[in-house]
Amino acid sequence: MDRTKHLLRLQDWDTVRILDTIDIAIRLKKEVKNGIYSDCFKGKTIGMFFEKPSLRTITTFQIGMYQLGGMPILLDPKSIGIDKRECVKDIARCLSRWVNGLVVRCFKQDLVEQLAEHGSIPIINALSDTYHPCQALALGQTMAEQFGKDLRGKTVAFIGDGNNVANSLMVLCAKLGMNFTLACPKGYEQKKEEVELSLPSFKKNGGKYRQFNNPKEAVIDADILYSDVWISMGQEEQKNEKQSHFLPFQINDELLKNAPMHCKVTHCLPANRGEEITDSVMDNLQVNLCYEEAENRLHAQKAILWQLLH
Ligand code: CP
Ligand code: NVA
Repeated sequence: MDRTKHLLRLQDWDTVRILDTIDIAIRLKKEVKNGIYSDCFKGKTIGMFFEKPSLRTITTFQIGMYQLGGMPILLDPKSIGIDKRECVKDIARCLSRWVNGLVVRCFKQDLVEQLAEHGSIPIINALSDTYHPCQALALGQTMAEQFGKDLRGKTVAFIGDGNNVANSLMVLCAKLGMNFTLACPKGYEQKKEEVELSLPSFKKNGGKYRQFNNPKEAVIDADILYSDVWISMGQEEQKNEKQSHFLPFQINDELLKNAPMHCKVTHCLPANRGEEITDSVMDNLQVNLCYEEAENRLHAQKAILWQLLH
């Protein structure tokens, strides 16, 4: 399988392609009003298969496809009954005869891998338990708009669980020569094999990977603090066990005092206000870029579709 024909995980895309995607996203965002690209996906369709809830991803892929002149088709996972009514192989082969691409939000990363293996259309990972590459590209666009396109040497400090979003942001940083810092309670780090996969890329592109168990230490040299829920979708049963460990890892005004003056904050959303981030930081729109990043999901995903379906 040629992994570059898909977006299964950001590791599969090289630095040049990631930078191109960010450039295309910025251009598409500017051109939206002029309608220059409103016909370029005429006659093209994407399927959208979501096993987990979504506001941003499901809305922005549909609007994005519409803005490019194509049509999204929302598929119903209950009705399809993956591995119950029908096996992945047959689903992938049939969908490949109808749609030009498939956007998938799932629990196991293995599902997007299998769909790519057995189908012949581009598969886009719209979040799995392991990765969220679309979110990472939207952060790349947001940072490029904020700090300029050359992001080498910038530092993203992720305060929270070593989860799917952390994994993809780490890869973005590694590929673009940025530093990635994770601050989390002991035992909630990213999986060792995920970090090891990115270390050569950090080395090649001049960035650093660091891990702290004290959030204050982690924010000292940050350009962006990144927040995400402590309990990801599908982990609800871990809520009681996790919550107390994560309390010191809240992004609040006190923690921000330890960061440089220019430091911004963002969150992939949805946010649990009062848990991983306070109302006060969420509503400080001088500092909080999360709504800009949410807008950029639309443009970054159009750029992903452009790269894979054009
Ligand atoms: N950040 C993100 O993916 O949002 P949704 O879960 O609402 O799609
Ligand atoms: N880590 C979160 C991200 C939500 C966009 C989750 O997987 O639920």
